[in-house]
Amino acid sequence: MTTRTAPQTYRVKSFGCQMNVYDGERMAELLAAQGIAPAAEGEEADLVVLNTCHIREKAAEKVYSDIGRLTKAGRAAGKQPLIAVAGCVAQAEGEEIMARAPAVSMVVGPQAYHRLPEMLARAVEGERATDTDMPAIAKFAALPERRRIAPAAFLTVQEGCDKFCTYCVVPYTRGAEISRPYADLVTEARKLVDAGAREITLLGQNVSAWSGANDRGHRIGLAGLIRDLAEVDGLARIRYTTSHPADMDDDLIAAHGEIDKLMPFLHLPVQAGSDRVLRAMNRSHTAESYLNLLDRFRAARPDIALSGDFIVGFPGESEAEFADTLALVDAVGYAQAFSFKYSPRPGTPAATMPGQIAPEVMDERLQRLQAALNRDQLAFNRNTLGRTCEVLVERKGKHPGQWLGKSPWLQSVWFADEPGHGAAIGDVVTADLVEAGPNSMRGALRQVRAA
Ligand code: 5AD
Ligand code: SF4
Repeated sequence: MTTRTAPQTYRVKSFGCQMNVYDGERMAELLAAQGIAPAAEGEEADLVVLNTCHIREKAAEKVYSDIGRLTKAGRAAGKQPLIAVAGCVAQAEGEEIMARAPAVSMVVGPQAYHRLPEMLARAVEGERATDTDMPAIAKFAALPERRRIAPAAFLTVQEGCDKFCTYCVVPYTRGAEISRPYADLVTEARKLVDAGAREITLLGQNVSAWSGANDRGHRIGLAGLIRDLAEVDGLARIRYTTSHPADMDDDLIAAHGEIDKLMPFLHLPVQAGSDRVLRAMNRSHTAESYLNLLDRFRAARPDIALSGDFIVGFPGESEAEFADTLALVDAVGYAQAFSFKYSPRPGTPAATMPGQIAPEVMDERLQRLQAALNRDQLAFNRNTLGRTCEVLVERKGKHPGQWLGKSPWLQSVWFADEPGHGAAIGDVVTADLVEAGPNSMRGALRQVRAA
């Protein structure tokens, strides 16, 4: 057992979903509160947190190659970094990581990372520690206050999933559905706004399953929470992600027509267009019930931009069943979407189902699906040409005087500042959408509204 000096610098590398990005930010804040500084660009850090994702691919293998690279760089520099593995791979394969990678001194699951400082103190003493407990929501109370943050911030309101889609590891790595308490969320939202947020995205693996008791003791759902957060002064926009079709209630649909601050955007994964495949996935909806649901959102908010997730090559998916997915895409006209090749995850029911699809077939289906989705994304962007909309300025563009932000429909919009306007990060400006690309829009600035 060798003791070492306490780390002066850290780096958190996050992979995967927005929830992991949020967790990564919180871990960085936690380390900063210990007096550890972020490592400068291009510099090796004394402490590296690999915040891993387990949802697809050989994520675990990626962890080992990262560890190998860090150890090699450490040898070259004559100083080994302390390595922590966090996130969903840590949760799922913590013990294996400890056994296989002696360079790792901490393994910490997504529900336990508030204990990182204690683990770090032990690691400095040369002790290795694993913490993959799943205490209900305890971590949030133990995390430091948010300080300065970007104009578009995340707020985790719900974690875990009870849906058990047959391909998915989330119910195993993130545990059962848990909603954070209402009062904590309202307080954290206010603090985020005080720290510079203008837009908050409410995060959850199954965010629409959020429920809680409001300050009058009434049970409310996500729509009720959104209604109350819309009252927070200085908050301009609210979004939420990710939802399951089974949890979308009338109130949430109505909220899209009633709350100005709730952006006209819905990410609603469908995964496949064939009812047989959906059943095998344990999705609890059909293609038709999904399309009907979208119609109700469109009735409440006609300009709503739709987004989805897709898996191609689920075990047993035939060519005709894949064609059902393409037909569903045609019927919806998504503004954007994410599509993936099915990846068997250890411990999930689908991993051992018969009819696993050959990689070349998956590649070919993914290409066809993505061609359709890209076509629709460009069509959506072209459809917004000529509209005047608000853009939340998030960062500087490549060239001087250029800014990048997001439209209400989550399109990236870049625009050039006009002399005398002086836009700044965090402003909500008004712009005309004048040029449409596949992945972004060009805006012409009309007006800068004071931040
Ligand atoms: N293989 C491929 N894609 C998956 N997803 C979840 N599990 C798998 C898997 N085993 C996709 C789903 C989900 C998104 C977050 O990741 O589309 O909605
Ligand atoms: Fe995974 Fe399905 Fe839960 Fe989404 S709803 S996290 S895909 S089990």
